Parts: sequence; C-alpha cells; structure tokens
Amino acid sequence: MAKLKVGVLISGRGSNLQALIDAASADDYPAEIVTVISNVPGAVGLERAAKAGIPTNVVDHRDFQNRETFEDALNDVLSAAAVELLCLAGFMRLVTDGFAGRWRDRLVNVHPSLLPAFKGLDTHKRALQAGVRIAGCTVHFVRAEVDVGPIIAQAAVAVLPGDDEESLGRRVLEQEHRLYPLAVELIARGQVRIEGGRAHVLGAWSDDNTALINPLLVTEK
Ligand code: GRF
Repeated sequence: MAKLKVGVLISGRGSNLQALIDAASADDYPAEIVTVISNVPGAVGLERAAKAGIPTNVVDHRDFQNRETFEDALNDVLSAAAVELLCLAGFMRLVTDGFAGRWRDRLVNVHPSLLPAFKGLDTHKRALQAGVRIAGCTVHFVRAEVDVGPIIAQAAVAVLPGDDEESLGRRVLEQEHRLYPLAVELIARGQVRIEGGRAHVLGAWSDDNTALINPLLVTEK
C-alpha cells in the first residue's frame, strides 16, 4: 500500500522530527516524510532531515509582509511535495484560520502538556508551579485556536519530588518521541476518525500501543 506523504514544519532542534524520521525508516511504517520546512534558517532540524535524505526548505516568515503570504509560500512547497498529512514539530508560528481550515483534519501537533491543561508556552514551569502530580504530552489535530483540537493520543509522566523544568521536560520529551510516531502511524493506517469534535481511534493495536493511547504513568527517573 502507498505510504502516506507527510510534511513536517519545524523551527528549531527537531527532536520530534528525528523521532518521526527514525520511525519512518522502518519498511513497514505506513508514512514517509516527503518534505521538511523550517521558518528559521539554520534550524538544527534541517540538518537531521538532510542527513536522512529528506528534501528541506526554508520559508523565513520575516521575508513576508503578513501571515497569509507566508502561509501561501508554505502551501506552495507542501503542494509541490503532494503532502497529505502535515505535522507541526516545534513550529513556533501561530497559524491563521485560513491555514487551519485548508489543512483541517490533516494537520497535527505535539504539545508538551496533557491538554486542555497548560496550553501555550512554558508548560513544564507552569505545571510545576501549579503542583500537578501528573504531567505529559498530547498529539492533537490543529484548529485555529492555539493548542485546541481533537486529541489523538496522550502520554502521562509522573512529576517527581525535586523535579525542575529541565528534568520534567526531559522525561516528557521522551514520551513525545514515542507518542508522535504512533499517532502518525494510526492516522496513516486509517484508524483515526473525527466525530462530534473528538478523535476516535479504531481497530486493534498492540498492548504497548494501548498503554500509549491511554495515559501512561512513567515513573522511571
Ligand atoms: C516540543 O516540546 C514540542 O512538544 C513543542 O515544541 C518542542 C519542540 O521540540 N511543540 P523539538 O524541536 O521537536 O526538539
């Protein structure tokens, strides 16, 4: 069966991009990354893509007068690569209603909190300030509102005594790297349906995947 063509938008180090690249390197993975676009020239993620032989593009938002023309340029690259699913992976630009509408149900993001808690930036700092006992990450479909949209998968991480932003962030990031490739795989296999504003995951998956779909309490240091 043809693999789902995935585009990835990044702005920085691209560790989630790397997780997707690694997953997609398996013959039986149902998706392939066909283009990586960064809005930041010199982003480390671009090197990761190039090393994996994936075509890269820089579309620098500073070269455009407004969000719409910036997004038109993104869409040109994405159309040329025939992208079917677009993954935001540390892409630090807000998208317009128009872009979210054009890519509706074909645009996903990974966010370092258990949404709908802690939308926006500095999630780990705010989670620690709030004294939550469980943190985590979410892969969701993107809507125009920031960090809102049908949730595909979440993984939970225990907050440990003595955690700081860095230590908690590191453990959450490890889970992002497991969760994002899984969510993309489920979409590519046609196992994710959106109904009534919620994403439903269909069909059978392995025991391990079940643990990832359901909140997974990770207690190791
Ligand atoms: C991740 O924490 C992701 O959840 C957030 O931005 C960060 C990107 O990190 N949206 P990386 O560039 O994938 O390493």
